[in-house]
Amino acid sequence: MNPNKALWEKGDFTRIADTMRESGEELVRRLGVTPGLKVLDLGCGDGTTAIPAAKLGADVVGVDIARKLVESGNRWAAALGLGNCRFQEGDASDLVGLSDHAFDLVVSMFGAMFAPRPLDVAREMVRVTRPGGRVVMGNWIPGDPTLVAQVLKVSSAYSPPPPEGFVSPMTWGVEGTVVERFTAAGVPKENITFSRATWTFHSPGTPGGFVAAFRDYYGPTMNAFDAAGRAGRAADLEQELVALFESQNRSPNRDVTTIPATYLLVTVAV
Ligand SMILES: C[S@@+](CC[C@H](N)C(=O)[O-])C[C@H]1O[C@@H](n2cnc3c(N)ncnc32)[C@H](O)[C@@H]1O
Repeated sequence: MNPNKALWEKGDFTRIADTMRESGEELVRRLGVTPGLKVLDLGCGDGTTAIPAAKLGADVVGVDIARKLVESGNRWAAALGLGNCRFQEGDASDLVGLSDHAFDLVVSMFGAMFAPRPLDVAREMVRVTRPGGRVVMGNWIPGDPTLVAQVLKVSSAYSPPPPEGFVSPMTWGVEGTVVERFTAAGVPKENITFSRATWTFHSPGTPGGFVAAFRDYYGPTMNAFDAAGRAGRAADLEQELVALFESQNRSPNRDVTTIPATYLLVTVAV
C-alpha cells in the first residue's frame, strides 16, 4: 500500500482531532466563510474545519487519504443534517476528479503538508482554486519549541531514517520553501503572505493520558513507538513525551491538559 496512506490509516486520528475542535471552529470564523462559498478542505481528517465551514453555510468538499476518516466525516455531517458537506478519499498530490478553478477557498490545516511531492501539492491547490480565490494552509514549523514540532522531533529521533528522496512535511513550515513551491505553481511572490498563529489542544485528562492517545492513535507517533519498542526504548520515548507534554501544559488543573501550539498560517491569493 502507499506508505503515506498506510501511515494515516493506522490508528484513529479522531482521538486527537477531538481535542482540537475549538481551534477548528475559531479558524473557520476568522476565514470569513459565508453561505454558498465553495470550500475544499484538503487533508480534512474527520472534519475539524470542514464541519464548522458547512455549519456557516459553505458548500464543502473534504478530501482525505484515510478512508476511515472520510467515513467518520460523512457520518458526522449526516448526523448534523449538513447536506452541504461531503467527504471523499483523495490524495493532495493528485486531485483526480476535481475540476480546475472549482473552489473559492482551499484550506488545509496540517493536512496537505503530509502529502508526498510538495511541488505537485502546491500546483494542485492552485489549479482547483478560482482566480480571485484563496489557498489557506496551516503548517507546523521545524524547530519551533511548541508541542507538535517537538513531538515530531522527539519521535524522529526514535525512528529509522526516512527513505532516500523523502521530503520532510516540516519543510512546509519554512517561508522561503513555501514561496518556492507556490511561485513554481504560477503564483506571484507578493500574493503569498505569512503569519504565526496558535492552535490549542484541550484534552480532558492528564498530559500523560494525552501522550497515551498519541501513542495509541496518532500514526506518526505509533510508528515511532513501534521502532522504539524494537530497540527496547519505548519507555524512554514515553518518558520524554510525558515530560514534554507536562512542560507545555497551560491548564491550572494538573488533571486536565491545555496545550497551545504555534503554526505558520500561509495565505495565497490566486
Ligand atoms: C494531522 S491530520 C489533520 C486533519 C485535519 N485537517 C484536522 O485538522 O483535524 C493530517 C491529515 O492529513 C491527511 N493526509 C495525509 N496525507 C495526505 C494526502 N496525501 N492527501 C490527502 N490527505 C492526506 C491524513 O489522513 C490526516 O487526516
